[in-house]
Amino acid sequence: MSRTLVSEMLEELEKVIAGKRSLLENVIVAFLARGHVLLEGPPGLGKTLIARSLAKVSGCTFKRIQCTPDMLPSDIIGSYVYVSQTGTFTFKKGPIFANIVLADEINRAPPKSQAAFLEAMQERQVTVEGNMHPLPDPFFVIATMNPLEMTGVYPLPEAQIDRFLFKLIVDYPSEEEELEIIYGKGFDRLDEVRAVASPEKIRAVQRIVDSVYLDEKVANYILDLTRSTRDSDIILLGASSRAAVSLAKAAKARALVMGRSYVTPDDVKALAIPTLRHRLRIKPEAELEGITVDDVINSVLRTVKVR
Ligand SMILES: Nc1ncnc2c1ncn2[C@@H]1O[C@H](COP(=O)(O)OP(=O)(O)O)[C@@H](O)[C@H]1O
Ligand SMILES: [Mg+2]
Repeated sequence: MSRTLVSEMLEELEKVIAGKRSLLENVIVAFLARGHVLLEGPPGLGKTLIARSLAKVSGCTFKRIQCTPDMLPSDIIGSYVYVSQTGTFTFKKGPIFANIVLADEINRAPPKSQAAFLEAMQERQVTVEGNMHPLPDPFFVIATMNPLEMTGVYPLPEAQIDRFLFKLIVDYPSEEEELEIIYGKGFDRLDEVRAVASPEKIRAVQRIVDSVYLDEKVANYILDLTRSTRDSDIILLGASSRAAVSLAKAAKARALVMGRSYVTPDDVKALAIPTLRHRLRIKPEAELEGITVDDVINSVLRTVKVR
């Protein structure tokens, strides 16, 4: 059932989005794994389109939050407002109260507002004036970052960036895909997209993900991969235990999307880069030589064998 649902979702998404198949698959895997994603890429490559159309195919509520240097945590989570008729304060929900939230240019938000986002992502609730307000379920944050922006940005702190299950790179389309965009794929076709899922269906699939079987062999493979990122002499900061847990969770969701009830080492291999790339730091001297985090993960994947 899960596999059919995902193919239907992809089919609908492809009515509006040209190309980007593996990116879309990964976004759906993260959604079903109850994760959140960070999309990195220059403006104008369909990030907003992806978030909006995913909300539509999932039958989910959607909000977009444009992050700015002057934004306050209350602009995101909401605040208590005075109602003169009753003489009382009531909670006015902020834009984070949606199933799918697009946090555009999250690195433009000042640290306190970033923290509000990241806390909500982790806790799936917000606490204002001592009162707890649960967020809608499912709750999925898609945050965007422009890699070329260097001024007026606040880099996401290491302790918080790993709240994102995946960091995905949004690349330029092929010539063929770009022609499809010119001929009208995109926002204009959003009306044609049907809701093939619903919050209930998504929650049901998320529960099935939890029950996907993770064999000891595959668990050991995740363990060895994670631990070997800490041994490399190019690495300043290796993968944490949270990274290992995330890799297992992501691999389970991928297994389900592939129509299996058990994880294979290939699930882990396929998701190691998006799961680990934002959690590792390489030494500045290696960086100067042009070595990237992705290179390091690829070399770990080549070296570590399934026991
Ligand atoms: N892969 C794509 N498929 C369809 N339309 C696209 C694609 N990439 C970009 N576009 C179109 O380009 C414009 C910018 O897209 P948008 O989602 O706003 O980009 P971003 O959020 O990355 O800045 C929109 O009109 C959108 O329809
Ligand atoms: Mg955008």
